Amino acid sequence: MAYERDSDASNTESPENLRQVAPRVIDQRQQQIDPAGRHRIDPDHRPDTNTKQPGSIPPAPEVGRLTPTSQEARVHDQTLTRGAGGEWHQTATDQDVLTTAQGTPVADDQNSLKVGARGPALIEDFHFREKLFHFDHERIPERVVHARGYGAHGYFETYQNLSHLTRADIFQRSGEITPVFVRFSTVAGSKGSFDLARDVRGFAVKFYTREGNWDLVGNNIPVFFIQDAIKFPDMVHAVKPEPDRAFPQAQSAHDNFWDFISLTPESMHMIMWIMSDRAIPRSFRFMEGFGVHTFRLVDAEDRSTFVKFLWKPKLGLQSVLWNEAVKINGADPDFHRRDLWSAIQSGNFPEWELQMQLFDQDFADSFDFDVLDPTKLIPEEILPPLPVGRMVLDRMPDNFFAETEQIAFMTQNVPPGIDFSDDPLLQGRNFSYLDTQLKRLGSPNFTHLPINAPKCPFAHFQQDGHMAMHNPRGRVNYQPNSWGRGPREDPRRGHRSHATEPTGPKQRLRPESFADHYSQARQFYRSQTPIEQRHIIDALTFELSKCEMPMIRIRMVAHLMQIDRAMAEMVAEKLGIDSMPHPADAALPAQDLPLSPALSILANGPMNFAGRKLGVLVCDGIETALLHDLQATFQAEGAVVEIIAPKVGGARAADGTMIPAHHMIDGAPSVLFDAVALLLDADGAAMLAKSLPARDFVSDAFAHCKIMGFTPGATPLLVSQGIQTGADDGMIPLDGTNAGDFLRACRKLRQWTRTLVIKS
Ligand code: HEM
Repeated sequence: MAYERDSDASNTESPENLRQVAPRVIDQRQQQIDPAGRHRIDPDHRPDTNTKQPGSIPPAPEVGRLTPTSQEARVHDQTLTRGAGGEWHQTATDQDVLTTAQGTPVADDQNSLKVGARGPALIEDFHFREKLFHFDHERIPERVVHARGYGAHGYFETYQNLSHLTRADIFQRSGEITPVFVRFSTVAGSKGSFDLARDVRGFAVKFYTREGNWDLVGNNIPVFFIQDAIKFPDMVHAVKPEPDRAFPQAQSAHDNFWDFISLTPESMHMIMWIMSDRAIPRSFRFMEGFGVHTFRLVDAEDRSTFVKFLWKPKLGLQSVLWNEAVKINGADPDFHRRDLWSAIQSGNFPEWELQMQLFDQDFADSFDFDVLDPTKLIPEEILPPLPVGRMVLDRMPDNFFAETEQIAFMTQNVPPGIDFSDDPLLQGRNFSYLDTQLKRLGSPNFTHLPINAPKCPFAHFQQDGHMAMHNPRGRVNYQPNSWGRGPREDPRRGHRSHATEPTGPKQRLRPESFADHYSQARQFYRSQTPIEQRHIIDALTFELSKCEMPMIRIRMVAHLMQIDRAMAEMVAEKLGIDSMPHPADAALPAQDLPLSPALSILANGPMNFAGRKLGVLVCDGIETALLHDLQATFQAEGAVVEIIAPKVGGARAADGTMIPAHHMIDGAPSVLFDAVALLLDADGAAMLAKSLPARDFVSDAFAHCKIMGFTPGATPLLVSQGIQTGADDGMIPLDGTNAGDFLRACRKLRQWTRTLVIKS
């Protein structure tokens, strides 16, 4: 059904006349002919509408009036109708009628209702008012933390029966498949901030189990800044933009953050992680996840086992360099979003293994630190984790707002068989998340939203409230009742808290067992490879250089001296601090703990190039055989190959064929790729040597220690940037026979020896 405009119909507004007109108009559409030459509609180019198709609307009489000056307008493949003011109208075919939210078909969505053509406007225009009203209310409060996030659907597959540890239904059957939704996020920035901020990444998983939702609301870092939830608002206020000036956005490099940190020694372990490359991951697919706190598994006999949850990415760990991160944020602020989207849409489903570190009270008593202290981890070398299942993300949301934005994670969502420890940060979170969802989603009925609703049967007597969508039927809305109707409590299957026996005076007191603030910070720093240590030093120097108050820098150097004196001296030297301060006053002296290789990214990197991206710079005149060989070799490994050319239309190969390009050089700097190849002839290279984007492409790729393949013809471009073709093992001349050698070189993350000559 459509609302046709017809100048001849200006005197045909009676329903009878319109009914006569309608069949003629539909015929014209089918034939794509309009005898008047004014209303041509191409049925193959229907309006692109995301609204639900109200297919049930019956064909209605054609109504409306044609403006005297209406006429056909064409733009390439689109045939539209031009209105009196020159505006274009895309009109409906039978099934795609635009309606108001009340279902009333809309005649004209380009012009508001006015007196005459030039106004004033009339408030009688219910379509206009409804449209603006809804638009004005489109935003809901963004999350107070973790505002910027991106999510996907998938499933969790249980490896084995764990009934000896937990009665949680999800762990009873090997091969059990449980739907999940995962939301990755940054913490400090607002919704529109960029992806490569130096920040901890949220790693929140909602498992829709057969016995209710289980939310494992974790991070990509296994420890946290603070030990008690009462400090969370202070910590978040300090890292967020400063309240008077409202900057910096999505950055910890400012006085307020470091002021708070320098006065909070418990944060030192987390600071080592945040200053490491963990805080600038290559993509969500290459990072670990951690439940952080100690939780409990509880079996059918109420026996409890302590547990820490870990997610291990199948692709291995990988991060970018800080200099790259800064440039990626400009070139593609959605770098992590695009990466997840592209991987899933192309069928390369990311996968993580869930592992558990399991321990009992005896282990907890003998461990060097308090297992309730969220600023401490248990090294995997001391307590090897048990793999218990795998998670695969295989579907992007249909609608970002409905799913990724409206999902409500809550640490207190645990099924029977999973329980909490007394970690004071976890206890505070269990209060905070329910509270924040009410504020953000605006109704206690946020569990009615499809993304938050359990996928198992559920039944309760909660009722009414804003936007109630699951409404109980019948007379009974309380219990106990004598109507013989449930739902009723089930002592056998219901969630029971593990029967601990807390004792002690009521008081505000931090346990002395939380007082070691430096030992694990030192262990983390010393477990890094020299390159990673250098990155930590560079990050600390950069961040502290942004603090205007010199005293903050001094205080931080004093803390660093407790962690590693050589590191502290290097940071001090780079900051221009002449005399070293006294080490910070430690509540407990730092211990030298055994090194933990599991803490290093470089020691746990990818085994191959799968899931990574090769950028191939081409120009006119190149040989296609070499390109095809590279594509075949890298794609067989599971890698993505993208072509960059001086023009997005592509490049013309020596054999005259057109090579389509994914990107124009100006929009595809090498920071967007894991490795690069330069397939250029001498003329092309000489031409590109005069182009700033092309020069940046090669100089950045080299400076970021990327493996670079190149044809002999590419030499002028390399030389223009002072790069020797034989500079190191990461420079691979391509001769048409050695794509495999190039791939093997790319499997290692980077050519790190280059950092000896270049500052990253
Ligand atoms: C180990 C420490 C913590 C971790 C791992 C953590 C993790 C997360 C994650 C992943 C999210 C984003 C959830 C999503 O994607 O929707 C989140 C949101 C949030 N967290 Fe935490 N958090 C921690 C500590 C805390 C504490 C101590 C509090 C408060 C006492 C808190 C309050 C919040 C709030 C209010 C939100 C926003 C929730 C929303 O609006 O959906 N978090 N947290």
